[in-house]
Amino acid sequence: MREHDFSGPTTVRRDRRRFDDDEPHFLKRGRLEPALTEEPDLPETGDRWSTWDGALHGPHPRPDWVRTEHAAVDTELGILKTGKEADVFLVRRAVPGTDRTSMLAAKRYRDGEHRLFNRDAGYLEGRRVRRSREMRAMANRTSFGKELIAGQWAEAEFAALSRLWQVGATSGLVRVPYPVQLAGTELMLEFVGDWETGAGAPRLAQLRPDLDELTVLWGQLVDAVSVLARAQVAHGDLSPYNLLVHDGRLVLIDLPQIVDVIANPRGGEFLARDVRNVACWFTARGLPVDADDLIERLSVEAGLR
Ligand SMILES: Nc1ncnc2c1ncn2[C@@H]1O[C@H](COP(=O)(O)OP(=O)(O)O)[C@@H](O)[C@H]1O
Ligand SMILES: [Mg+2]
Repeated sequence: MREHDFSGPTTVRRDRRRFDDDEPHFLKRGRLEPALTEEPDLPETGDRWSTWDGALHGPHPRPDWVRTEHAAVDTELGILKTGKEADVFLVRRAVPGTDRTSMLAAKRYRDGEHRLFNRDAGYLEGRRVRRSREMRAMANRTSFGKELIAGQWAEAEFAALSRLWQVGATSGLVRVPYPVQLAGTELMLEFVGDWETGAGAPRLAQLRPDLDELTVLWGQLVDAVSVLARAQVAHGDLSPYNLLVHDGRLVLIDLPQIVDVIANPRGGEFLARDVRNVACWFTARGLPVDADDLIERLSVEAGLR
């Protein structure tokens, strides 16, 4: 245990509860509330102590690069992307004075406007019904309600990545970033890119692959969506912007809206839209692919036909 965990005037107290027992668990977990002190508890290097301890952890088997040490510190290296619903930051988590380093993408959901209510209500169909007090808070957009919404997107993406990562680990047919941890509205993922330079892997949309490369990438895409279909899910927002290409491999990202194609009455539509979005891009780049044929096969695999 590190020195700073003892209570004292400079201690950061973890898990002091601000909400009553009725609140969902994910908001209690990982909440940091500074003690009443002028001097925050900060490590000698880096920006903050690793938030691993208070967070929900990713699935097993855990990759060996995941830093679980109490002595690890987080350093913010910059912004990867700002968006309407979330901002993504590059963070180094390392044990100072050692070579035990990891590079993480921290996706922080904003508690501003979210597509939960204002974009596509179809996503919600078939999901569990929430308690009415929470529904009211979200519908009325109280600050608590907004934080709930942001937290639910983070939680949904964490669950989707955890599930797909495990499927990928066994089948080898689908790749997603390893979900390291979830704390409140922040999700921390394996950084897909160059860990030395901090350069992120390009999105498929930015690339101009030749015909051979296109053929290989399309094959990987077919494998990935087939695995999803067999798990009876669709990405829900698949596009050349939500596919990274790293070391010649397609990596699926951005999964908070993953769709259960059986429970959701529009599941088949989401599946078809995902395929068409990506098939269009391949066709426009010079590899004519048959979207309808793939949609038909996936629908059968998913049990929709
Ligand atoms: N794990 C990751 N590794 C590297 N870059 C990432 C990672 N996750 C996200 N990014 C970068 O951040 C961008 C936005 O992330 P994304 O999950 O698509 O969120 P959104 O599109 O909702 O803003 C991506 O296009 C990618 O460039
Ligand atoms: Mg995206």
